[in-house]
Amino acid sequence: MNIIIQQNCDGINWQDVADLLAFYGLSSLDAKMQELVFRNSYAVVFLLDQERIVGVGRALSDGVCQAAIYNIALAKHLHGQQYGRLIVDKLVEQVTQCNIILYTHPQTVEFYKNLGFEVMKTGMVRYQSDHLTEMRNMGFI
Ligand SMILES: CC(C)(COP(=O)(O)OP(=O)(O)OC[C@H]1O[C@@H](n2cnc3c(N)ncnc32)[C@H](O)[C@@H]1OP(=O)(O)O)[C@@H](O)C(=O)NCCC(=O)NCCS
Repeated sequence: MNIIIQQNCDGINWQDVADLLAFYGLSSLDAKMQELVFRNSYAVVFLLDQERIVGVGRALSDGVCQAAIYNIALAKHLHGQQYGRLIVDKLVEQVTQCNIILYTHPQTVEFYKNLGFEVMKTGMVRYQSDHLTEMRNMGFI
């Protein structure tokens, strides 16, 4: 297996991205909208295996002092081999001077703690009304 790391949006198969994020319930946006959100992000990471997207992640940032990580996902057959850490590390490298925030599913809090993130005491969110019930039911709030 030869996993390639790509940190730009050139030639990305956006349907693969949409499928991977939808598989884990992380996003239901279609391929065209995924292209928009990744292109509008400050930092992106894609893992490719023979041109198939097997891992993704992105960060929003002002490029100076603040950043936020979103949409970390890895194909199931690659779990447990440090590729998730690799995606996050490659994003952190691109915003290394920033404070970095994120929020995650209750099941992956320990993953991010392992990577040096700490649970915030005063993090707050205003979800769109169509997300609110789902996020509450999944234990995000
Ligand atoms: C979360 C995810 C990216 C982790 O990827 P991964 O490649 O399996 O994780 P890694 O192998 O890089 O793990 C790094 C460390 O975190 C630990 N870890 C990984 N997943 C964990 C979890 N769910 N809970 C606790 N610890 C976890 C690993 O044991 C490893 O610890 P070590 O360095 O001491 O050995 C992957 O499971 C995934 O894509 N999940 C579905 C999508 C998702 O939930 N994304 C995050 C929400 S935004």
